[in-house]
Amino acid sequence: MEGIKDMPTHRAATPRRLLMCPPRHFDVRYSINPWMEPEKPTDTALALLQWEQLSGLFQELGHAVEVIDPLPGVPDMVFAANGATVVDGKVLGARFRHVQRTAEGPAYLQWFIQQGYREVLWPEYVNEGEGDYLTVGRRILAGTGFRTDPRSHAEAQEFFGLPVTGLTLVNPRHYHLDTALAVLSDTEIMYYPAAFSPGSQAVLREMFPDAILASHEDAALFGLNAFSDGLNVLLPQAAQGLQKQLLARGFNPIGVDLTELLKAGGSVKCCTLELRA
Ligand code: ARG
Repeated sequence: MEGIKDMPTHRAATPRRLLMCPPRHFDVRYSINPWMEPEKPTDTALALLQWEQLSGLFQELGHAVEVIDPLPGVPDMVFAANGATVVDGKVLGARFRHVQRTAEGPAYLQWFIQQGYREVLWPEYVNEGEGDYLTVGRRILAGTGFRTDPRSHAEAQEFFGLPVTGLTLVNPRHYHLDTALAVLSDTEIMYYPAAFSPGSQAVLREMFPDAILASHEDAALFGLNAFSDGLNVLLPQAAQGLQKQLLARGFNPIGVDLTELLKAGGSVKCCTLELRA
């Protein structure tokens, strides 16, 4: 255990612009990941309440929250992280793997065009936005294995002009990169090694030797589906071990209850798309 005196004191939050989509049509009617069990009941009102608590918390912390209207018939649209990847004001559109979510790609892209974004790319290859593309400082980590086509990684690198590092996911419960790895600051991450192929684990060790490693238990509680502003780290309430690890590194962990949305295989980060200017 690190003592209080060893805690880094340099942490500071920077205000972010976030895009979110209220789960007004939330439901689990199909299964495209192991968390989704359509035979179990869902509560749309509770999903909306939990989502409102998350968006309220972001605003209390000083972040700007933009909202996109949910389309009927695409209940997973609440997971705004999958709608695009936005870096330096450039928007890489999302092209979904599964037909159940296909309509979300153009819907998100249209929002960006209406907002006046000029550098917008409709992608050639399947990619599920920030579900698989996580920006760490001036680098991008890119997941593949279940959703995003590995050929999309070169497309993203060319479009953004930033180095993109591909990482292969191997555990279906961690089907998106943002279910296995979270960005904490411009230089720090936390992740669950066993979600990655041996080669990708070695790459992560090489790039981030001091990363926080999540336990199997916290990873299974979706604890890595977290959002950090550099100081405050919002993550699923149940992931208690990770909250202790974050505290020991001088972060301010804030547990959030999004259990209703977890029935679709999503939580804090999945609901949050960062709009990087
Ligand atoms: N039901 C959605 C799917 O399987 C959940 C997406 C969660 N989003 C995320 N960024 N991991 O596509």
